[in-house]
Order: sequence, then C-alpha cells, then structure tokens
Amino acid sequence: MSNRSYYIAGNWKMHMTRAEAAKLATELAAQLKDGKHKYLAAPSFTLIETVAPIVKGTNIRLGAQNCAPEEQGAHTGEVSVLQLKDLGVQTVILGHSERRHNYKEDDALINKKVKLALKHGFEVILCIGELLEEREAGKVETVCETQTVKGLEGVSAAELANIVIAYEPVWAIGTGKTATPEDAEAVHAFVRKVIARLYGADAAEKIIIQYGGSVKPENAAQLMAKENIDGALVGGASLKPETFVPIAKFA
Ligand code: PGA
Repeated sequence: MSNRSYYIAGNWKMHMTRAEAAKLATELAAQLKDGKHKYLAAPSFTLIETVAPIVKGTNIRLGAQNCAPEEQGAHTGEVSVLQLKDLGVQTVILGHSERRHNYKEDDALINKKVKLALKHGFEVILCIGELLEEREAGKVETVCETQTVKGLEGVSAAELANIVIAYEPVWAIGTGKTATPEDAEAVHAFVRKVIARLYGADAAEKIIIQYGGSVKPENAAQLMAKENIDGALVGGASLKPETFVPIAKFA
C-alpha cells in the first residue's frame, strides 16, 4: 500500500454549452461532496468562468485542457496562463495525445508549457502514452520514458510536487478499449522508476500517476487496485454524473 491519495480527473474535452456545463458541475459538486479522493473538472476555455463559482470551495479543482507556451502577446487563438489564473484555474492538462497527434505538439513545446505553468503556480497533469503501432513494435517503455524525460526537462525537484503524470495509451482513448490493469500497472511502475532515476526514490514514491483511456464505472476499481495506479483521467465517462461519480467513488 502506498501513501498516495487517489486523484480522479474529468477531461470534458470540446463538449457542452455554458448551461450544460453549469448543470454538470452543479450535479458533480453535490454528488461528490462526500467523496474521499481528490477531484478535477477540466472544461473548455469558454466554460471555465461558468464552472468556476460552482466548484469553488468544493473538493473539485478547476482545470484547463491546454495553455499557450508564452505568457502573452501576439499569439492568435491561444490562451495564456495569466488568463487562466485570472479565472481561478488551478490545474492545466498538458501533452494530451489529442494535442500531440492531432495538433502536432512535440515534447519541446509541451515542456515549454509545463515550465511556464509551473512558474505560475499551476498543478500540471502531464499526459504520456504510446500509439498502437508503438505498442506493437515493443516501444512502450521508450516512448513513455522519452515523453516523461523531455516533458520534465528543467523541472526542479521542488516543482515536481506540482506534477501529476497521466499514462494514457493512445489506442485506449475514446475507443472503449481499456488497457488491462496488469498492462497499465507495468507501465506505471516503469514510469515511477524513471522518476526515481530523475528525482530520487522519495519523489517517485510521492508522485501521482493517473491512468487514462476508456475508464468506466465497470473497470475503475480494478485499475485503482494496482499498486502504481493512483487515479484516473477520464474523458467520455466524465460527461455524465451517472458515469463519473461511480468512478470517482470507486470501491
Ligand atoms: P476517454 O478519454 O476516457 O474518453 O478514453 C481519456 C482522455 O483522453 O483523457
């Protein structure tokens, strides 16, 4: 048994209007009130201001799904950490596979965002994970190690306390295909070893490593039972209280 606490995060992706987001946030706040773990809701940028007052003072943190690699300036279409801070955002998800693969974000860009977000006091959920062809080619560890090492380049030991890692095998995201608890655990244990090499055994023991990729009420408990799985980053199932709450309160 580890001393780490569980952290269940909802990545709402590009879903919902303000009214829908307010309804979901209100229901989650009520139903998770007695939840024992750490929680996060990460709505689209345009919904953050709506969700912020609803989750304020609850056990649900406020997250964003991305940020610009610069503080401010001529960056059309981007959103800055200063603007997110102004809205009360506490956590930023970075390096999500949809950003890496659909929007061609590379490790250097993600690292720049990670350092900027940390500099401004945000908690960062750094997502890593292999493509199906990389898994089939036996490259899971190489890919996850590279994304971890490069994503954290220049991050100090003190700053690491504000880092959460989310292992999300790309082939499991939004596909209904979940990694088996054993396969996920193997990667989580490996990533923890990489952290130990970079920051020492103590830091590795403390860091939260979430699993993401088709987490559902039916598989949450088996995943969380694994020694090195400390929570979940949930996409599809985070959009409804009926599916997110049972995951958040897994038994
Ligand atoms: P999913 O998404 O739960 O819909 O597979 C997870 C994620 O992308 O964070």
